[in-house]
Amino acid sequence: MSISRRNLLKLGAIAGSSMLLPISLQERGYAGTAGSPVTKPFTLDFKIPPVLRPVASDNESGSNGNQSFEGTDYYVVVQKPGKQVIIPGYTSTVWGYNGTFPGSTIKQRRGRRSVVRHINKLPAGNPFTVHLHGMAALPQFDGYAEDLTMPGNYKDYVYPNDRAATLWYHDHAVGKTAFNVYQGLAAFYLVQDSFEDSLPLPKGDRDVPLMIHDKQFSRSGAVVFDDNGQKEVMGDVITVNGVAWPKMKVAPRKYRFRILNGSISRSYGLSLSNGDPIYVIGTDAGLKTYASPVKNFRIGMAERYDVIIDFSKYKNSSGIQQVTLKNLDVPGNVKYDNTHVIMRFDVDPSLNATATPDPDGIESLLGQNSATKSTIRPVKLYTEQEIKDAHRKSWKFERTNSLFAIDGKVWDKDRVDANPDLDGIEVWEVVNNSGGWFHPVHVHLIDQQIITRNGRADLVADYEKGWKDVFYLGPNERLEVIGRYGPHQGRYMMHCHNTVHEDHDMMTQFEVGDGGDDPINSAPRFKIPFDSSGKEIKPWEYSNSLKFPEPCMNLDQYPDYL
Ligand code: C2O
Ligand code: CU
Repeated sequence: MSISRRNLLKLGAIAGSSMLLPISLQERGYAGTAGSPVTKPFTLDFKIPPVLRPVASDNESGSNGNQSFEGTDYYVVVQKPGKQVIIPGYTSTVWGYNGTFPGSTIKQRRGRRSVVRHINKLPAGNPFTVHLHGMAALPQFDGYAEDLTMPGNYKDYVYPNDRAATLWYHDHAVGKTAFNVYQGLAAFYLVQDSFEDSLPLPKGDRDVPLMIHDKQFSRSGAVVFDDNGQKEVMGDVITVNGVAWPKMKVAPRKYRFRILNGSISRSYGLSLSNGDPIYVIGTDAGLKTYASPVKNFRIGMAERYDVIIDFSKYKNSSGIQQVTLKNLDVPGNVKYDNTHVIMRFDVDPSLNATATPDPDGIESLLGQNSATKSTIRPVKLYTEQEIKDAHRKSWKFERTNSLFAIDGKVWDKDRVDANPDLDGIEVWEVVNNSGGWFHPVHVHLIDQQIITRNGRADLVADYEKGWKDVFYLGPNERLEVIGRYGPHQGRYMMHCHNTVHEDHDMMTQFEVGDGGDDPINSAPRFKIPFDSSGKEIKPWEYSNSLKFPEPCMNLDQYPDYL
């Protein structure tokens, strides 16, 4: 690729302005693109990632590291390259969970166990480790950064599914997470339960996952990874579910969108072009107590917000009504010509005659007709006493010696920086004294609540109030978060979810309790087996670490695995 306009501008910016500001801030508002082929937004149709069916299921109950389950579903995921259209007129190569970006969605029920066999068929030399973000997995199934599985090998991951929430799985290989996720190793994992089923929320094709992710392309349409000297990836193309600025046809009804910021480094300020509110009903780890109607909200990398958008006011309009999901300016991001828009909803009033009605009672859940909102799902708040009694710890997220660091230290798998008791409640303060960078902080294993921002409870946004596992630590911000450490003992990571920062090297680990399962050696990886004639054995037929039942039920779902 030739030197992009962005890089030329970067050189100019360094020569002419303060070195104290991050490059990203100096450049803002200048470059039109980062060099991708010029693409008109809202050209391609919206799509939903494929849903993965289990290869087998059983109803044997049991327990697995402090968590019980009622039965197990077995899945097979092959990590391999694939080709798809992301920008109009070009076919790009991605790496994907089953060869697509985003990869196959896993939909699971709370209380059932999942066993997911991940098989590495990536190009030579590329290991994976899989993190199911938001799941309380045992250390050996948590995608520990150094628990690497090389091409030609597989590893089985076990998940308890102990909460209903919008989760996602993505790569976490040490030093390579940003690159691997950027190539496409990211997918939804949705856990649902009967309580949520009973709520008057949109369901079926009106319960829609949206993964937002920015990318750059070469002139020939190849995905280009440019991390700006190990600082950030700022794409000039915004994709939703792997499609550049899609347009989605919708009925004049209410929709539930499970929004995930799957970007490497870009955060977004989401807002609707018609000025209507977006009703935030859930945070990273599930539904909130009350809906929060907002004109806009900020979403950092790896955060999930569950929202309702109401298109019903268009039911008597004539002709298609266009509503754009916009991206407002959030400090610390690089703007290009079309990064201010995300996708477009084309509301078709003629569907009013046939589309199923909105669920009864949803207006009172959203507080649309009266000042009092009904409860969605009561989120238990920590009491004053619990906050007072909690063990406290403070962490500084900063850039030192050309690296991103936590308390001046970089990742070391042999060092543990905190040691919460099993079931102990701790308040962690995370501090960002930089005026330019923002760091979405992710703590593995547990769900937490934000109690203050810059020392004030009222600076925690209403839409952030709920169970979370990522905390938006903006420029010059300081947060206090509280959580209970468990249910497992062992070593787990904490890091910035700008995965470029994480790789270089803003990541540490804590150990819950004393010991716990070893994250690397207690559930090893194995070589893909071959039969005596040298033919690869089908992935649902071999069993090494965990037993995959034979014969399997849905073999025809996987015609092209091998
Ligand atoms: Cu979503 Cu440690 O990552
Ligand atoms: Cu960061």
